[in-house]
Amino acid sequence: MPAIYAKAPGKIILFGEHAVVYAQPAIAIPVNKVYATTRVIPEVAGRKNQVHIKAPDIQLDVDLADLDEEHPFAVTIQQVLNAVNLDHLPSLTLLISSTIPIAAGMGSSAAIAIATIRALTDFLGKPLTAGEISSLAFEVEKIHHGTPSGIDNYVIAHQKPVFFTHGKPIEHLEIQQPTHWVIADTGEKTSTKDTVAAVRKLQALDPETYHPIFEQIGEIAFTARQALITGNIDLLGQLMGDNQRLLEQLTVSSPKLDKLISAALTAGAVGAKLSGGGRGGNMIALAPTQNTQSIESALLEAGATRVITTTLNKGET
Ligand code: PMV
Repeated sequence: MPAIYAKAPGKIILFGEHAVVYAQPAIAIPVNKVYATTRVIPEVAGRKNQVHIKAPDIQLDVDLADLDEEHPFAVTIQQVLNAVNLDHLPSLTLLISSTIPIAAGMGSSAAIAIATIRALTDFLGKPLTAGEISSLAFEVEKIHHGTPSGIDNYVIAHQKPVFFTHGKPIEHLEIQQPTHWVIADTGEKTSTKDTVAAVRKLQALDPETYHPIFEQIGEIAFTARQALITGNIDLLGQLMGDNQRLLEQLTVSSPKLDKLISAALTAGAVGAKLSGGGRGGNMIALAPTQNTQSIESALLEAGATRVITTTLNKGET
């Protein structure tokens, strides 16, 4: 049996992070330039029902039997077994790798789970729909994030720009005009689980202050939906600034994020904000044209450890 290979992209949240955990809408897009891959290599001889996992990016080289059952890879495999009604896998090696920055708000955990679910279910001859894959990956996301909204697994499994509200039908955005985005990494590792917990604590202590902030962020995402479809970059830029100020009130920005945001705006970006959990990780800037060179250089000069550009193209639904 030949090796089977599957791939899943990174993602970036454009609007609505954190508020999305409280049932407000958010917008996210896949980022195809970075991705996770999983290769299933059938064991040719010897050991019976042995599953070996190699993930060189995180220095993991281990038998499944030796992994804690709460480990995300163990949970991913268990989700697959449940979904296809099997109690064990045949002998195989899983080779997992990723170019998505880890703990940086680009969906690396969801992408790894999704590439692995895809590779295993294809290998077993039981491919699943994007919706089914997203649901399985959501269970894995709970380990990483505690109380995830589900936006990461959804956008990565469907590989489409989405207007996402937890528990509501999800809209795939039909883009009419391209927009150009620059994503810059602060180099500061961040834990989404921790930032979500910090925001949860704030809103539990003072719901009268924080619930209106979530609602305002939700309104921004709602307005941004149409602006993104039609490529109204001036409005998008303004909404990014408004969203960033509300995220600052949620205490999830950081001095380095603020510095990169201000560098991007000075270099001509029409808008900039943090993206994802915050307190580190990535920020995004909206470029006025396809030529993003000056914004990229300014971000690197201001201390970004990595810059990725992505275009949201017309017809991407
Ligand atoms: O981009 P990430 O993986 O850091 O996700 C963060 C998005 C949050 O809204 C903060 C949490 C969530 O589950 O939606």
